[in-house]
Amino acid sequence: MKLQVESFGSETEWARGIADRWQERLTANPALRHCLAAGLTPVRIYAEMLRRVREGSARFGDARIFLLDEYGGLAPDDPGRCANMLRRFLVDHLDLPPSAFFTPSVDAPDLDAACREYDATIGGGFDLVLLGIGTNGHVGMNEPGTPVDIDTHRAGLHVETVTSSARYMNHDRFPTWGLTIGLRPLLAAREVWLLATGAAKAGIVARLLAEEAHSDLPASWFRDHPNARLFLDRAAAGDVLA
Ligand code: F6R
Repeated sequence: MKLQVESFGSETEWARGIADRWQERLTANPALRHCLAAGLTPVRIYAEMLRRVREGSARFGDARIFLLDEYGGLAPDDPGRCANMLRRFLVDHLDLPPSAFFTPSVDAPDLDAACREYDATIGGGFDLVLLGIGTNGHVGMNEPGTPVDIDTHRAGLHVETVTSSARYMNHDRFPTWGLTIGLRPLLAAREVWLLATGAAKAGIVARLLAEEAHSDLPASWFRDHPNARLFLDRAAAGDVLA
């Protein structure tokens, strides 16, 4: 396994440690092309990066941010949409030009065309990808069973993922599908960070560290990525790193 594992004593230390590395990457390459997850896991990291932008130690003025995935069937202003979460937690408060934030067109009449268009926009790929991990091992909306060589596509959500989306919604019309960047461009990224915090992720983290790469556990493909890190807090690390 090439995956490098780093464990922190608390979620606060975890967020600071990751933000330190992110700040270094941005300093080395101000035009960094990011792919960023929504969801709750990265929220503390995003808050830490915003603090650094405000104090002038990090800047996104020349960067690009691509949204990892988006739910279908929700109104454009639904606070549970991935783009709206990422805007609220990060993008709206950055020094990033609005034209440097890219999202897949989940409301387009022709979703296949929308996916091909997003792939074309992604173009040369990502310098840095930040991924949360679902309790069933999904990354983005690449659910168990997703082919490893897939580009941006329409994905049906597993029942566990649908239930889990309740944490983001202020209603109970939970999304059942979405558009997601596929495993192929994620695996082609120059650097990938897998993020997990809290005891609820300890089970999937233990599996990720124990099992060979296979399609029933999409996060496991990153075990063999040449430049991937798994960042854990103490609770997500559970007993495996003790
Ligand atoms: C969000 C996303 C999802 C989440 C995953 C973990 O854009 O792509 O794959 O990263 O479901 O969700 P949280 O972080 O809310 O536990």
